[in-house]
Amino acid sequence: MAGIYLHIPFCKQRCTYCDFHFSTSFQSYRKDLIAALCKEIELRKTEINEHIQTIYFGGGTPSLLENSELVLILKTIYFNFSVSDNIEITLEANPEDIDSERLEFWKTHGINRLSIGLQSFKESDITWMNRAHLASDGEKAVRLAQKIGFENITVDLIYGLPQLTINEWQNHLERVVNLGIPHVSAYCLTVEPKTALHHQVKHRQLITANEDEQSEQFETMVAYLKSQGFEHYEISNFAKNECYSKHNSSYWQGVHYLGIGPSAHSFNGTERRWNIANNSVYYKNVGENESWFTIEKLTNNEQWNELFLTGLRTKWGVSKSALATIDTFTTSEEKLLNQYKQKGDIKENETHYTLSESGKLQADGIASAFFRV
Ligand SMILES: C[S@@+](CC[C@H](N)C(=O)[O-])C[C@H]1O[C@@H](n2cnc3c(N)ncnc32)[C@H](O)[C@@H]1O
Ligand code: SF4
Repeated sequence: MAGIYLHIPFCKQRCTYCDFHFSTSFQSYRKDLIAALCKEIELRKTEINEHIQTIYFGGGTPSLLENSELVLILKTIYFNFSVSDNIEITLEANPEDIDSERLEFWKTHGINRLSIGLQSFKESDITWMNRAHLASDGEKAVRLAQKIGFENITVDLIYGLPQLTINEWQNHLERVVNLGIPHVSAYCLTVEPKTALHHQVKHRQLITANEDEQSEQFETMVAYLKSQGFEHYEISNFAKNECYSKHNSSYWQGVHYLGIGPSAHSFNGTERRWNIANNSVYYKNVGENESWFTIEKLTNNEQWNELFLTGLRTKWGVSKSALATIDTFTTSEEKLLNQYKQKGDIKENETHYTLSESGKLQADGIASAFFRV
């Protein structure tokens, strides 16, 4: 089993909070960049011998791809790799790019999962976020996609927003549930360095939620979505009827994947590869066969840390047999594990360690307690 991630580094405008890799002035070189993506796909065809089970168009804003560009990328993948018959192909789509014609096109060209960036139902949030759509466009986009026949739809929401009350958050969750979609991703707002949000928070133009408010919103979300039939299968992800993101679940379970495009990461079991996060250097270097990536062989300690970091966030947990291929617990780690088990934060079965509800509130802290340096 293997997957391909494609990073589309284009955005209409810069959202206040976002530090992902993207550019808003890409028209002059978009052709060159797409050509480089296709060349990278071709150059890396021998890196994966298994069937490709998932393709994920992420970004940036993949819904800014013109139809011909999307087809060219897909054709290049199908030409160079062996693609599974029941492949999951996800496209991240921003509400302002969604209309019936685009949806029909995506559907007939193999896109079978849409990830729609709703973020918030509150107009004033969408404004300070500097999103390129109205709050109401998010819901409209989901309904239109359903009308065209997309069933596997997920939306992104953000909580912990400035002045988001618990009642408003509950209302957002109810509106999401009422959309009748099988998957929701919800992220706690993080103030990333060098973003406009960071500047605003630093100058007290915006005050974000404190830790208690964030925890309350997280707990409200977990309880409510569970009561509505959603399974909390990863810290930020909820699915009905096992409609998990196959692509992201593969990441969390250590499946091999190729990351294509500027800033994309790849993993082959023992090595991580980072593509350069610079559009012009990326397409020029790919075009001229100059290096555009760095490779790092994971040390035993890094592989150990990775198992805790990704495993503890999911319902599948950290695999005991995977840990055993690296090392055994030291005496102090054993003691730490027992303390977490006694507090009820970590649960253990024959094959895995998982987090309890209380543990999920401190997922990153618990994972890092087991990190080795
Ligand atoms: C990089 S975006 C790409 C998706 C798409 N371009 C969009 O804007 O909907 C993926 C998701 O990460 C989340 N995200 C990005 N920056 C974040 C931040 N600083 N705090 C919390 N969530 C964030 C947003 O929910 C966003 O939809
Ligand atoms: S949140 Fe999405 S649309 Fe906004 S800047 Fe980030 S990648 Fe682009």
